[in-house]
Amino acid sequence: MSRPVIKWLKRGVVVAVVGFGLLQIFPAKWLGIPTQDIGTNPPERFKFDGPPEVEAVMRRACFDCHTNETRWPLYARIAPGSWLMARDVHHGRSHLNLSKWGDVDEDERQDDRENAWDQIQSGEMPPWFYVLPMHPDAKLSDADKALLKSYLLAKSEKGKGASKDPDKDSAKAK
Ligand code: HEC
Repeated sequence: MSRPVIKWLKRGVVVAVVGFGLLQIFPAKWLGIPTQDIGTNPPERFKFDGPPEVEAVMRRACFDCHTNETRWPLYARIAPGSWLMARDVHHGRSHLNLSKWGDVDEDERQDDRENAWDQIQSGEMPPWFYVLPMHPDAKLSDADKALLKSYLLAKSEKGKGASKDPDKDSAKAK
């Protein structure tokens, strides 16, 4: 490589390193990012009330954003990944926090379950940007959806029409 190219490459590296360092101290709160939530897991817990296989699916697809049992990997503690994650967890928990199910009555929990099913059925949840790069295991198969539906709608009016045949259910879930 020629001298000038090497010089520019070196400058590029310096700019990148300094920029990355500045990101870490940048007060992202100014941008409305709830940085106070980074790495937090408030103390309330709720013992999940469904079958263990349903809990397992929800744990990998929903719990990071909708409980106080968020897994905070290293990349979720370093800007700018931490900002994205803090925003999702903050908004996710404020819409639905399964760890707070102990504070509400069964009617409200059932509303939450039906809402959750609507989100799953429409493909809104889990969000694609969560699944794609970092959490491929959060992708819900047809069998996963049928399983979640059987739990989420078990006590609901909507669930009464659900067929006993899981193949049919998963076809509907698409
Ligand atoms: C990456 C974080 C993330 C994951 C994972 C996630 N959600 Fe969400 N969820 C959100 C956010 C953020 C919102 C707030 C609405 C919005 O901004 O789209 C939300 C909203 C919701 C709502 C409320 C929707 C409304 O408009 O009332 C429900 C119900 C929900 N999610 C269920 C689920 C279920 C069920 C799963 C797992 C299958 C899941 N979510 C996985 C982040 C997440």
